[in-house]
Amino acid sequence: MNSAKKIAVVTGANHGLGFETSRQLAKQGYHVIIASRDEEKGQKAAQTLQNEGLSIIFYPLNVTNDESCQKLAAFIENEFGKLAVLINNADIMIDDRDGGNSIFDVQIETLKETMETNVYGVLRVTKALVPLMKKRKYGRIVNISSGMGQLIHMEIGHPGYRISKTALNAVTRILSNELQINNILVNSVCPGWVKTDIGVSPAPHIMEKGVDTIIWLATLPDGSATGNFFRDHQPIAW
Ligand SMILES: NC(=O)c1ccc[n+]([C@@H]2O[C@H](COP(=O)([O-])OP(=O)(O)OC[C@H]3O[C@@H](n4cnc5c(N)ncnc54)[C@H](OP(=O)(O)O)[C@@H]3O)[C@@H](O)[C@H]2O)c1
Repeated sequence: MNSAKKIAVVTGANHGLGFETSRQLAKQGYHVIIASRDEEKGQKAAQTLQNEGLSIIFYPLNVTNDESCQKLAAFIENEFGKLAVLINNADIMIDDRDGGNSIFDVQIETLKETMETNVYGVLRVTKALVPLMKKRKYGRIVNISSGMGQLIHMEIGHPGYRISKTALNAVTRILSNELQINNILVNSVCPGWVKTDIGVSPAPHIMEKGVDTIIWLATLPDGSATGNFFRDHQPIAW
């Protein structure tokens, strides 16, 4: 299939913010690939959005698996030969399983597993897909971070998740520096506390508000900001 549309990939898009981001990108005219590790959930999510008349497909992706990332890259290369947007959304938050809020409660294994998905997973997917952006000298990469990764807010609770999001922000800075020459803009975003599986009630934000800044960053014009951290369209402290 040769699409005249811009192609976008959203990782971990079978539900939550990734799902809504896929919907909003497709509404803006993108052909969106919902990349999900669970085939059944991913197919169902894609079907729901196809039923809304949107240009969406599913492709399996486990961000912790190199081969899976390479397969996604090969699929996009064969089908479309290009990629405009990558939303690194997939994450885990598993500190709770060690039964405490303190960094002294959290097992090193839990930290390693969190980093594997939230940081190395992002790098793995990005390394696989960036060649498809470089070819066209165009790309927008949005790393979904969190205010919990801001160094100015390192409080107790979810230490593994916090460390992973701080490290993700470092990845954003390094990538933005290396990729700017290729017209590939890379930014981090905090979506705010949103009502999803992570943002259980009483999260104040509805989904549409959570994805608003993500969509803005995914569709920035050439020459716009890169290597920054945003919330509600405004730069925030690292
Ligand atoms: N919700 C909030 O209030 C909030 C606030 C700040 C930041 N964020 C950030 O926003 C993003 C989305 O949040 P959310 O609340 O929508 O999260 P969520 O509901 O937990 O969804 C996470 C998604 O990532 C997928 N995933 C996990 N590991 C994966 C892997 N190895 N390969 C592929 N996919 C994987 C999950 O798949 P399964 O369904 O198979 O588990 C799920 O689809 C995350 O990066 C989160 O840190 C959210």
